[in-house]
Amino acid sequence: MNKTGIFYATISRNTKKIATMIAIELDIPELHIHNLLDIEDIKIMNNYDLVICGTPTYGKGDVHYLWREIFQEMQELNFNQKRFAIFCLGDEVYHKETFAGSLRIMYSSLNELNIILVGECDHLEYETYNSDYYSQEGKYPGLIVDEVNQSDKTLGRIAIWCKLLMQYT
Ligand SMILES: Cc1cc2nc3c(=O)[nH]c(=O)nc-3n(C[C@H](O)[C@H](O)[C@H](O)COP(=O)(O)O)c2cc1C
Repeated sequence: MNKTGIFYATISRNTKKIATMIAIELDIPELHIHNLLDIEDIKIMNNYDLVICGTPTYGKGDVHYLWREIFQEMQELNFNQKRFAIFCLGDEVYHKETFAGSLRIMYSSLNELNIILVGECDHLEYETYNSDYYSQEGKYPGLIVDEVNQSDKTLGRIAIWCKLLMQYT
């Protein structure tokens, strides 16, 4: 079995909750769910075969500030075509214009590295997600969760996404 690690940042803990739900779906032990705040050395990403990165959206469609620092540090590492998957949280009603913009930033930042991005999907059906933010394949570059307005859909969205990822775990 391949080893999977989840790396997330949060402010009001929704992203932590989603990281835990993903871990349950993929049978990932708690030990391998990492809050960026607690990480001493980002090199631990290289201990995993699949790295799942999660961020809430803040500012105007931006990633959590800790990811900005980590992206810099990640540039120093060689991931040697390691598989990564990404997820973000957003608010489709109050932050319509910048809904889930963090996923796009995560996507373009990771694409600069020597990695393979997996987990692109087309099952999310958000009305306001900007199609300019799709991946090159015309899909969502990863999972988006709106816990503020559509928490009833979260479990289903996670389950389908995790099924896509299971082939790599
Ligand atoms: C100050 C502020 C700015 C936000 N900006 C955005 C945004 O630009 N786009 C978006 O989709 N969601 C935005 N959100 C919504 C958060 O991403 C959402 O509430 C998320 O669930 C928070 O995750 P966390 O609990 O892990 O911090 C914003 C929320 C706050 C409080």
